[in-house]
Amino acid sequence: MKSPAGLLLSAIELDRASAIPLYRQLYLQIRKQILGGRIQGGVRLPSTRTLSKELALSRITILNAFDQLIAEGFLASRTGAGTYVGTEWEQRTLVDDGQARQPPRLSDLSQSMLSLRSDHFRGVSYADWDPSTPTSFLPSHSTYDAFPQTIWRRLMNRHLLKPSKAMLGYGELQGLQALRAAIAEYVFDARGIDCDAGQVVIVSGAQQAFNLLGMLLLNPQDSVWMEDPGHIAARIALQAQGAQIVPLRVDEQGIDVQQGLARCPDARLVFTTPSRQHPLGVTLSYARRQALIDWAARQQSWIIEDDCDSELRYSGRLLPALYAMDQMARVIYVGTFSKVLFPSLRLGYVILPQALVEPFCTLRAVMDRSPPTVLQATTADFMVEGHFLGHIRRLRTLYQARQQALVEQLQEQLGGFFRITPVDAGMHLIAWLPPALDDDVIAKQLAQHNIHTYALSDYCIEHVLPPALLIGFAGTPEHQARERVAALARALHAMGCLKPAT
Ligand SMILES: Cc1ncc(COP(=O)(O)O)c(C=O)c1O
Repeated sequence: MKSPAGLLLSAIELDRASAIPLYRQLYLQIRKQILGGRIQGGVRLPSTRTLSKELALSRITILNAFDQLIAEGFLASRTGAGTYVGTEWEQRTLVDDGQARQPPRLSDLSQSMLSLRSDHFRGVSYADWDPSTPTSFLPSHSTYDAFPQTIWRRLMNRHLLKPSKAMLGYGELQGLQALRAAIAEYVFDARGIDCDAGQVVIVSGAQQAFNLLGMLLLNPQDSVWMEDPGHIAARIALQAQGAQIVPLRVDEQGIDVQQGLARCPDARLVFTTPSRQHPLGVTLSYARRQALIDWAARQQSWIIEDDCDSELRYSGRLLPALYAMDQMARVIYVGTFSKVLFPSLRLGYVILPQALVEPFCTLRAVMDRSPPTVLQATTADFMVEGHFLGHIRRLRTLYQARQQALVEQLQEQLGGFFRITPVDAGMHLIAWLPPALDDDVIAKQLAQHNIHTYALSDYCIEHVLPPALLIGFAGTPEHQARERVAALARALHAMGCLKPAT
């Protein structure tokens, strides 16, 4: 058998044409052999003189590699006695390169290796869709063709071309003052919310707010009322804090507060989408709003009001935010720019009762501090200089026309199959399926035909609703509605869902 030194030497192959310096190649190869167990702890390495001769390298090159290996603990040098493999590697047994250990794949990890909390995130899909897919009907997705890119670029360049210290340094923890002030003014006009900029905190999207609020307000086993069907990502965020979810049905007046009072009157928190129930689209009635606020005040419970797309209302009356009705500082308002600007901006905002501002910001400090200041400053300018409201007005007209065109085509081409419920607000309509069908199966089969929708049953926790698909309309320009619905009809036909034409 070869001596350890011989083993080391025989495995070293240097590429003199490589851009990687020779000392680094030597360092990497010796380190690999130690990590792979090929050379064990305590083994003495050949002298630098021998290595220099055998490998045809200068001694300086070898010393440079050794110095780094010694600094990292892979080798130890004993004065007058040579250089040894570090003793922490002593316990390693010799393994063949062929048997070298592979790092475990995530799917191989047993649950015991992960935290209990991570179990809540199992099976969450995050990458099953290619954004270039032209036939997507996914809710919350737009074509962004109405986005005023020239204006946005001009405003952004203003901050990028001459970046100030404020722009490059750590930003304000609570968010850029100018943006907070613009939001406070906007929500006063648009949502009836009377707050000052000191109560606004900028977050990296509404989803981050839900996670932070869950951490801040919930103890394990606390009960949380959730709309059923309801916003999936928010439910997971709150469940991950150990909360017990109490699913409440949704009817034409919104979340059923009476059911909550009967099932679990002492819940610590309710998550609700009053201006457009997600995903069904109904508006929370005035009486239910008052009932929720009264309950929260009595119980000292919290209300998270997710108002993610109140801007996109096409018909029906937009009621003031719950936050605006609350006299007892129980409502936390969460807004986002994902729907009206674009989701990769990752900017949202929370409007907090005064007492929560400081604890919320402290928690925020150990997360990611605050979103990029340049993006906050650009968004603030976009609002202050009047582009925001104009853009919202254009989007409303555009999306309303898109919904109408899509509804017409769905009714014309698939009216015998779907029962369509157009919506007063938001970015998707509900297409009810024949009762015998399974919406989850249909959505999965459609995805195989490259047509992407969501199944309503995915949003349901406990209450069973008739099968339906959520069909996004914001991503389908009017002139493409006919062809896209035709593609949907072809796919349904190929799946055997439609009767053959007679
Ligand atoms: C109901 C609801 N709330 C909030 C959000 C916004 O999330 P974010 O601001 O994290 O993009 C979405 C996004 O699709 C949503 O559907």
